[in-house]
Amino acid sequence: MAVVTRGGYRVMDLDGQEFTPQVHTIAWDPVSAVKGEYKHFMQKEIFDQPRAIIDTLGGRIDFENGTVHLPEMNLTPDLVAQINKLFIVACGTSYYAGLVGKYLIETIARLPVEVEYASEFRYYNPIVDNQTAVLAITQSGETADTLAAAEQARSQGATLWAIVNAIGSQSMRLSDGSIPMHAGPEIGVASTKAFTTSLVDLYLLACALGTLRGTISQRDLRRLTDDVTHLPSLVGRVLERDSEYQTLADQYYKARNFLFLGRGINYPIALEGALKLKEISYIHAEGYPAGEMKHGPIALIDEAMPVLAIVTKDALYDKMVSQVQQAKARGGIVIALATEGDEAIRQEADYVIYVPQTPPLLAPVVNVIPLQLLSYHIAVRRGADVDQPRNLAKSVTVE
Ligand code: F6R
Repeated sequence: MAVVTRGGYRVMDLDGQEFTPQVHTIAWDPVSAVKGEYKHFMQKEIFDQPRAIIDTLGGRIDFENGTVHLPEMNLTPDLVAQINKLFIVACGTSYYAGLVGKYLIETIARLPVEVEYASEFRYYNPIVDNQTAVLAITQSGETADTLAAAEQARSQGATLWAIVNAIGSQSMRLSDGSIPMHAGPEIGVASTKAFTTSLVDLYLLACALGTLRGTISQRDLRRLTDDVTHLPSLVGRVLERDSEYQTLADQYYKARNFLFLGRGINYPIALEGALKLKEISYIHAEGYPAGEMKHGPIALIDEAMPVLAIVTKDALYDKMVSQVQQAKARGGIVIALATEGDEAIRQEADYVIYVPQTPPLLAPVVNVIPLQLLSYHIAVRRGADVDQPRNLAKSVTVE
């Protein structure tokens, strides 16, 4: 309760006890909440990503020592030693960030991770105790299902962590430790920069946990921290090719269905690409782990079905090329998302989109940008309301 007078204000609890509130300064620039030169907030937010990632990294990496600092996480060696399992709970795009997070944390910190839709976690009686940490990922910090999942985990003794954009939101207040996304205000309903900044936070968390758990050497850590500093410029290079996505959108905006394929750490990016397309353009789209194609979805492929395959250079490259060949053999139209310099892929696909070579653990951040741009241009071409898609809300505060 606050009593505001001409001379100032007094803050009290509901029993009338006065107290000094904790002040959080939100460093959001009001200019970041206007469209400026852009046609839509979503477009602006896509182009804002190099800056957002710089802000996310800001102050978290000590370049001299090559170490990661996450002060709001309150991580101690004792706490980390106590935790033997991590649940990630989230909804929608934040859930897909969680799937990438599992890959990062299990690879770097060797801590077992389960990722659950918050709306499922609440009702399936998960095995949680005081050796479990539960990490909520939420842009708004107010998603009802995510908050309920976190509260349930707290009642079972878990340590609560959150990756959150809205400073001071309920999710942040509820948690024992948090990592702000520092994405700035995200106004377009379809999440873009909150997704990529969550991925960066998850990468930093994996590095911090890996250090405390002793699963990475000082040398590994230095390489991981060096790698991440190149991310803003790699994302910027993808954005420079925006006109190519417009051309691609002109070609495929009438499609009725789309299939997105990826493997390993890029499988969640296929899911996110499909979600972006369906929510803003209303085209039916599915994301699939490419190896699953032969177990069902391959039946859908014909000359009317564009298949976007993430075939960037990593350990699963050859496997992905073979999926592309299978889609082509069934008459599908293949759009390949490939690494610059990969000329061979041109023989396999109908259309190739190039992204710069990126260390595999950071590739999802770079690979999602073309999918955001493609969805955006397709939605614009179809005359859809990009920032306010039908039936959707920015913050889902009801169950
Ligand atoms: C998709 C999208 C939603 C949100 C989801 C969770 O573009 O924006 O799927 O990701 O509603 O919202 P937060 O992250 O605020 O909990």
